[in-house]
Amino acid sequence: MKKIIIKTPEQIEGIRKSSKLAGQTLEYIAEFVKEGVSTEYLNEKIDAYIRQNGAIPATLGYSGYPKSCCISVNEVVCHGIPSENTILKNGDILNIDVTTILNGYYGDTSKMFTIGEVSPRALELIEVTKHGMNLGIQQVKPGNQFGNIGFAISKYVKSKGFSVVYEYCGHGVGVEFHEEPQVDHTSRRNTGSFMVPGMTFTIEPMINEGRPGTIVDKVDKWTARTVDKKLSAQFEHTILITETGYEVLTDVTGEY
Ligand code: MF3
Ligand code: CO
Ligand code: CO
Repeated sequence: MKKIIIKTPEQIEGIRKSSKLAGQTLEYIAEFVKEGVSTEYLNEKIDAYIRQNGAIPATLGYSGYPKSCCISVNEVVCHGIPSENTILKNGDILNIDVTTILNGYYGDTSKMFTIGEVSPRALELIEVTKHGMNLGIQQVKPGNQFGNIGFAISKYVKSKGFSVVYEYCGHGVGVEFHEEPQVDHTSRRNTGSFMVPGMTFTIEPMINEGRPGTIVDKVDKWTARTVDKKLSAQFEHTILITETGYEVLTDVTGEY
């Protein structure tokens, strides 16, 4: 088993700056997310914004991934590839996932957007997903175990009648894109590694309206969709374990 990296103060400062930029990118793109635009247009805007701020998009070329962000619409669970053929329409829900590399350090965050009038069921899915992530974040403090993150998320999400995707997970992040540990969003209480100050990782639950299973597109080899083609939602933050709890490094709204 590979070890979880405890970051130095210098590394933490670098990850903090990169994470802030990733968060700002999601704020920046909001005004362009509307009916009639293609997800490729949003990808180009995001790519330019990241570069203008002295960073590069981590996804571009990562394991052959072809774009500068992931945009996952409706039944797409994650890794949706921006395309000129994907035009946003009234009622759509979408996740935009941005990962920046600034001075060698990674920040990774995603959030949901809605187009026009969205069904109450879709809005509820989005709210439950965000609250589920927040319950996971609240588990972060030195001495706690990583399994309690997924336990908190799944207990709540299941009580609301939705399902937790188990095939994709959060991850250590900061000096590499995907580091140890794997952060499950459905897990058993008091299991997993112990949390130590200086660890940085993501919490990024994908929550499905229907069944939890996913299937990867046979043609593009990336796009993961729900097996039942019902809706999926996701939020993601990069988190630092501090001496007393957590710092949400990708938050730029002052929410945490
Ligand atoms: N940003 C995604 C995550 O949260 C990873 C995307 S990898 C890609 O881990 F290759 F699909 F872009
Ligand atoms: Co991530
Ligand atoms: Co991400």
